Amino acid sequence: MAKRQLQLTLAILKPDVTSRPHIVQEIRNMILENNFYFIRSQNLQMSQHQIRTFYKEHEGKFFHNRLVNFMSSGRIWTHILAKENAIKDWRNLMGPTKVFKTVHDEPDSIRGRFGLTDTRNCTHGSDSEETARREIKLFFPDFNEESWRQLDEQFYI
Ligand code: TYD
Ligand code: MG
Repeated sequence: MAKRQLQLTLAILKPDVTSRPHIVQEIRNMILENNFYFIRSQNLQMSQHQIRTFYKEHEGKFFHNRLVNFMSSGRIWTHILAKENAIKDWRNLMGPTKVFKTVHDEPDSIRGRFGLTDTRNCTHGSDSEETARREIKLFFPDFNEESWRQLDEQFYI
């Protein structure tokens, strides 16, 4: 059997999702049905400072304050997900950013099904391997990718 090359990505379920618990469950089902592995999970509330660091590339944009207020308004779930093309596949499952367009173009995606507005759009996903590494480090500073890969090979392949 060919060796799996698992890629990691950082997924977030945002406060509009955690305030609707049945949707948390529905999104977890979608993640599992699409053959992702949950590697780490964490439930937390981010401070405005942490959110500004996390979304630093969006500083100065028209939606930035709204985004910071929304992301600090409640608890979130952060997950490290693994799959062969985790970054691209998770973003495809999420659907495009702008919910008003997404409900027409990608109605079966997470944002298409459950998104409320362009800001309250359910989920986050890393957009490159470099971003994924940075975002995983921010939320899971103790996670050691190398030892996880060794364990994964030992037990699951
Ligand atoms: P962005 O990184 O462009 O989208 P994505 O989450 O798909 O990677 O933007 C980050 C978040 O900023 C986005 O999920 C929600 C918020 N946002 C708005 O509120 N309005 C907007 O017009 C855009 C582009 C983003
Ligand atoms: Mg982004």
